Amino acid sequence: MKIFSAPLQGYTNSAWRHFHAEIFGGVHCYFTPFIRFEKGEVRRRDLNDYISELNTNHTLVPQIIFRDLHEFQNLVTTLRAKGANSIDLNLGCPFPPQVHHGRGSGALINHTLLRDISKSICTDLPDISFSVKMRLGVDSSAQWQGALEILNALPLTHITIHPRTAAQQYKGELHLDQFKSITAVSRHPLLFNGDIRSLDDFHRIADTFPAIHGVMIGRGLLARPSLAHEIAAGHTLSDEELRHKLSLLHRHIFTHHLETKCGESQILSAAKPFWDYLEEFIGHKAFKAIKKATGIDKYTKSFQQRGLWVN
Ligand SMILES: Cc1cc2nc3c(=O)[nH]c(=O)nc-3n(C[C@H](O)[C@H](O)[C@H](O)COP(=O)(O)O)c2cc1C
Repeated sequence: MKIFSAPLQGYTNSAWRHFHAEIFGGVHCYFTPFIRFEKGEVRRRDLNDYISELNTNHTLVPQIIFRDLHEFQNLVTTLRAKGANSIDLNLGCPFPPQVHHGRGSGALINHTLLRDISKSICTDLPDISFSVKMRLGVDSSAQWQGALEILNALPLTHITIHPRTAAQQYKGELHLDQFKSITAVSRHPLLFNGDIRSLDDFHRIADTFPAIHGVMIGRGLLARPSLAHEIAAGHTLSDEELRHKLSLLHRHIFTHHLETKCGESQILSAAKPFWDYLEEFIGHKAFKAIKKATGIDKYTKSFQQRGLWVN
């Protein structure tokens, strides 16, 4: 069963993906956070995050979010011109401003759009492989049914399912019963995504759904970057080993920010999210000190003093 790294806007950017693959590994494929169309063009910042990481040793697939055929075609054409031959379609984003504009999970329930896109994929884009990442629906856990009927007719490499509705955001019950129903009717390989934070969580899903193609892990990989490697290896790293590798990962990413960003506040706002999901591992005190540090000097001291730095 393959392990995929989930896209998380603001977290799994090019530096994180690059150094995560180098230091921890275990991931079959990384996805960029969604690339969007804004003010008549593909958002430059999103595109740069993909382009800056093209020469990698790991597999990377750009993900796009769109509300109509025009946005879809522009995004695909731009990415194709940059050399992309696989593209992931975001039909799951629950962020209200995106959903209300018909993007993400808003597009999942727009069957006219799904049919238009299907036609475009089948007739104009035979050279690109597509995959889909979706939720169960916007406000009902059965809304996937109409969409899946359309998606079943498409040549997709896989579908990733996060078995929640958009209304649930990232919390609450995972609808495993609905996921099970999807496994019965999907013609495409499936990835399960949601709340996998440990080896036990992984085994519970793998045992319950042995026929799936793999799992996609998001927050669990930010909280324990070794998790994909641990699943592949079948055992966990010691706390000491994890601390060492985590410090190394942070050092590389922080150095990258120092070299590429201008000004203290830009550097700190790019660097601090690294710790957002690590409170449990590094402890509340260390977490607080790192998060409230003002200025690069204080920030650096805050993790160096706690043994979270390696040369
Ligand atoms: C802060 C944040 C940003 C996210 N950004 C994206 C995104 O750009 N594209 C996407 O498909 N999903 C995005 N997601 C959803 C995750 O990829 C994933 O589906 C979700 O977190 C559930 O998986 P997990 O429990 O393993 O984290 C985001 C989630 C969070 C919390």
